[in-house]
Amino acid sequence: MSSRRLHAAYSATWGRCFAAMYDRMLAKAEVGKLGRLRHDLVAPLSGFIIDVGAGTGVNLRHFGEDAHVTMVEPDRFMAARLAVKAHDVGKSVDVVLAPGEALPLADNSADHVLCTLVLCTAGDPAAVLAEAFRVLKPGGEVHFLEHVRSDDPKVARIQDRLRGPWSLLGCGCQANRKTGLLFAPAGFVVEHIDREQLNGCGPMVSEVIVGTARKPLVSA
Ligand SMILES: C[S@@+](CC[C@H](N)C(=O)[O-])C[C@H]1O[C@@H](n2cnc3c(N)ncnc32)[C@H](O)[C@@H]1O
Repeated sequence: MSSRRLHAAYSATWGRCFAAMYDRMLAKAEVGKLGRLRHDLVAPLSGFIIDVGAGTGVNLRHFGEDAHVTMVEPDRFMAARLAVKAHDVGKSVDVVLAPGEALPLADNSADHVLCTLVLCTAGDPAAVLAEAFRVLKPGGEVHFLEHVRSDDPKVARIQDRLRGPWSLLGCGCQANRKTGLLFAPAGFVVEHIDREQLNGCGPMVSEVIVGTARKPLVSA
């Protein structure tokens, strides 16, 4: 079987189940620290916001009244849940089926780009950030909450060893990426990055970074 057909079969079987189970898998963490970090990141945003790899729309309930949101998601099973959840929480959003590496959106148009738990999964996270840079207005910001490689060498070793099976189970999630290092090469000025521990989530996804990086007013 070709790798394209294999990927399509994986997506139509496990990918579909993953989308159906996603909210339940996250439920405990979302009422705890992960949900609080997410709220603090998302709630202050206003203007035109692009939520990249929006999944089932977990961010939806955190957006404020002044947020005009376009949710971009490449997986049709995840995307199908976005519109339903938007209706359930009473938010009017646009849903676009596309990968973060090729955003079908205009240059210099967005006030904010949001990446939550997505740069670990995207095939080419550097290309996603290049697209974020392109669509942001000068002075616009990318806000992120991402699973990353642990600072603890023992935990990082576990992340490395289990990368393959974890990725297979997690629809491509590579929890051992040093995602924090990708923003400056993409042209962003990092405003802040905090590293947080998520207790009770297991070693693969126990560390996250939360932060903001800005597109300079004048690009280099
Ligand atoms: C772990 S889920 C996170 C969903 C959501 N952002 C959240 O915070 O719950 C990862 C999401 O990234 C999406 N994804 C995978 N590859 C992607 C890519 N190349 N560009 C954008 N999103 C991608 C997946 O389909 C999935 O919905």
